[in-house]
Amino acid sequence: MKIGIIGLGFVGLSLTSVLSSKGYDVVGIDIDEGKCGKIAKGISPFYEPGLEKILKNGLKKKLKISNSFSLINNCDLIFVTVGTPQNLNGDIDLSIIKKAVSTIGTNLQNSKKSPIIFIKSTVVPGTMKKIILPILEKKSKKKAGKDFGLISNPEFLQESTAIKDTKFPHAVVLGGYSTKFMKKAKKFFEKLHPNVPIIITNHQTAEMIKYANNSFLATKISFINQLSNICQNIPGANIDDISKTIGLDPRIGKLFLNAGPGYGGSCLPKDMKALINFANISGIKPTLLNAVEEVNTNQLEQIILISKQRLGNLNSKRITVLGTAFKPNTDDIRDSIAIKLINKLLKRKAKIIIHDPRAIKNTKKIFGEKITYTKSIKNALSKSHCAIIMTQWKQYEKLNNKDFSYMSKKLVIDCRRMLLAKELDVDYFAIGLGKEKWNIL
Ligand code: UDX
Repeated sequence: MKIGIIGLGFVGLSLTSVLSSKGYDVVGIDIDEGKCGKIAKGISPFYEPGLEKILKNGLKKKLKISNSFSLINNCDLIFVTVGTPQNLNGDIDLSIIKKAVSTIGTNLQNSKKSPIIFIKSTVVPGTMKKIILPILEKKSKKKAGKDFGLISNPEFLQESTAIKDTKFPHAVVLGGYSTKFMKKAKKFFEKLHPNVPIIITNHQTAEMIKYANNSFLATKISFINQLSNICQNIPGANIDDISKTIGLDPRIGKLFLNAGPGYGGSCLPKDMKALINFANISGIKPTLLNAVEEVNTNQLEQIILISKQRLGNLNSKRITVLGTAFKPNTDDIRDSIAIKLINKLLKRKAKIIIHDPRAIKNTKKIFGEKITYTKSIKNALSKSHCAIIMTQWKQYEKLNNKDFSYMSKKLVIDCRRMLLAKELDVDYFAIGLGKEKWNIL
């Protein structure tokens, strides 16, 4: 059995590497020739823990990397994992996926195989039936369900744990018609992931499951962030003890209750916007989803407010941003809250110094010479008026009085409560930690 994977981003390259390392005959395809060249040498174009090791493993076996779509002609299973980025109006941009399925369709015309095409890219309900299926049938001059299979197969992996999540997903969703292809797909996944629940449903429900998943996670984060803001007005209150305790209730669950500067990354903000947009078009007012977004946007404002309260005018103030990656163990800064923060601080003419163990290169692509970059935390803090911990990198746990002694003004805003337990000789503000005095009552 030959497997083709189209689009070698986080999802596609993780799947390519995991399947090929298990011995499957895989071809990973991407239009970017430079990217393909790197991957074929075992180099990942982005940082993801464990990925290169498993990729190299696959390359030693049967894995091939190519920018030629014609190779899908020999494939029995084709996974489409291209991006569906965001349009300015909040809608998703389908141009990349339309192009990919159109090329697959054209190639399918001359193929003797009856492959199953799995769409892993996130698309709003109706996209498979109204857009993807018609393109494939038109271009291939073949019939879905008869000449080829078409299955919605949303992906739930998280960056920084992409390999583990690809190997051990919590569920497999197969959306589509009940055909011989669906039976074959079920068998493939039963073998690949024994004991993992397989949910078989229709296309539109599978498409909606992905949005339900991510919007629920975003809701959990905004919920705890709103609570953390309330806690800040309760002297001595600590949001982490609250999260820990409510998380023990199995109806709530302990994950995604870490208060912070708001959710970022390439999925949650984009998927929330797309779902809100979709709800509005469907005539449903997404009151709750709008509130989740609003809480997320406001979360950043309070960091600005605290720095302004303590430093006054931010013009020419040196502000150190610790962490620009949208979360630890990645170099991804897409929709990172830290990037939004830097933009806001730059508007107020602050001087920004950033440190990040992995994301400096990507951050430079955005800000160029406008800010200062350093690989040393000590240099980042030197002569600074304010340090803001944005990303929960392990390195920042070690920060101590000596590190802060190099600052001009020792204001520390800890968005992740990493230094809460330390006795620090600084003006310390942590998200979700009650101030000493009641503001009310
Ligand atoms: C997310 C989904 O988790 C994943 O299932 C989907 O396939 C892709 O989108 P990812 O973008 O990798 O994954 O990031 P995630 O770990 O979900 O974090 C998103 C954002 O939420 C980050 O900015 C993170 O810092 C923030 N977050 C997460 C919190 O602020 N608190 C939490 O408790 C959890």
